[in-house]
Amino acid sequence: MQISVVGTGYVGLVSGACLAAKGHKVTCVDINPQRVTDINNGIPPIHEDGLPELMAEHVGTSLNATGDLRAAVMESSASLIAVGTPYKGDEIDLQFIRAVATQIGEVLADKDDYHVVIVKSTVVPGTTEDVVLPLLEEASGKTAGVDFGVGMNPEFLREGVAIPDFMDPDRIVMGGIDERTLEVMQEMYAPFADVDKMTTTPRTAEMIKYTANSLLATLISFANEIGNISSAVGVDVVEVMQGVHLDHRFNPILDDGGRLNPSFLTYVMAGPGFGGSCFPKDVKALVAHGKAKGSFPHVLDAVIDVNERQPVRMVELLQESLGDLKDKAVTVLGCAFKPGTDDVRESPSIPIIRHLVDAGATVTVHDPIALDGIRPDFGDSITYDENLDTALAGAEGVMVVTTWPEYKDLPQKLAGVSPQPPVVDGRRMFNVDDFDTYAGIGR
Ligand SMILES: NC(=O)c1ccc[n+]([C@@H]2O[C@H](COP(=O)([O-])OP(=O)(O)OC[C@H]3O[C@@H](n4cnc5c(N)ncnc54)[C@H](O)[C@@H]3O)[C@@H](O)[C@H]2O)c1
Repeated sequence: MQISVVGTGYVGLVSGACLAAKGHKVTCVDINPQRVTDINNGIPPIHEDGLPELMAEHVGTSLNATGDLRAAVMESSASLIAVGTPYKGDEIDLQFIRAVATQIGEVLADKDDYHVVIVKSTVVPGTTEDVVLPLLEEASGKTAGVDFGVGMNPEFLREGVAIPDFMDPDRIVMGGIDERTLEVMQEMYAPFADVDKMTTTPRTAEMIKYTANSLLATLISFANEIGNISSAVGVDVVEVMQGVHLDHRFNPILDDGGRLNPSFLTYVMAGPGFGGSCFPKDVKALVAHGKAKGSFPHVLDAVIDVNERQPVRMVELLQESLGDLKDKAVTVLGCAFKPGTDDVRESPSIPIIRHLVDAGATVTVHDPIALDGIRPDFGDSITYDENLDTALAGAEGVMVVTTWPEYKDLPQKLAGVSPQPPVVDGRRMFNVDDFDTYAGIGR
């Protein structure tokens, strides 16, 4: 099947490369000409394990990039829309979605073959049918459900493991305005033979994505709240959550004695708060959309509130050891929102660094691949260092924000340092006795 994918970010490029690997012919479209050139030269514009190999295998044959949306839509039978959907302070920002819908509609005006337009971006419930569909009809002068199809196919991949997540997903949700649309979507996902597939309406598909992200975000804020109470009452939240996790409702025992859900624990571990390009903006967009529709979400409001306080909690832990942070040299380890990605969008490192700078600290930040992402936020006000040893030299305080594997040796690196800087461990990577002075979230 010939597919066009509009937007070549984390979702668009990964989807395009994986669909090519599954046997489709894919053209990726982007308005950023550098991205288009990079992709056609086999250079991934984003960091994602396995992507360079997939591109090396398929670019030039079943995977190509272009800035020419018209040609890509004309040559394909389905288009995936995978552009960004940021949160603009009071609601979801659909400007990129609207622009692409109009552009595709203009092409459909001149296209005789039946074409299916599928929204893959995360959009608030109703967007596909109430925003995208009318724009397609207006720009094409044609009728959805007659001349072309419209679908919604939320993406659940996680950055850092995006390729395995796309190639072997837990489920594929397909929302379509009619049977003919769903048939084309089924054909697109036919190579994913053993995967659970669900067909539904576009609106339900949109809500499934928000609900999944909101539930995971709720677990994290819940764990952070429990973590803060745990440290206040003098117990360790990791031990608490391990005890809770032994409940078989969370962690059923399989026939072979194995456990069904060991990874559940990663979502109930207290930390510096959730970040990334999805959870914060998606929870906020759902809250705002719910309110606009007359439904006032209390739990999700609190999820955001708890999350926004957590970076402050990290800085307070450092102040408990160092006192006034003015002119203190503080090294922040990690600015990517999680290991395995260069994405810093909404990373908790950003508010943590901002609080440190505001408190007068002299901040050095280390990250193996993501430093460029935060330079626009902090400019010359902090030091950026890709070398862990020099980043740690002279530090009077250390904060662990991202679980990069290279930080595992931190106890050895600081072993001979005197006086040893206090370590605030936002990810519970270390034990209390690994350092002279240690503070862990929820400990
Ligand atoms: N990043 C994730 O982990 C993830 C996971 C699941 C869902 N999503 C959702 O997928 C969508 C895309 O997210 P992302 O992180 O891949 O975004 P991104 O910002 O990495 O990429 C968006 C791309 O779209 C391009 N673009 C913008 N306007 C365009 C236009 N008119 N024509 C062609 N290209 C255009 C941009 O140049 C950019 O390359 C969002 O709705 C997001 O919420 C993201």
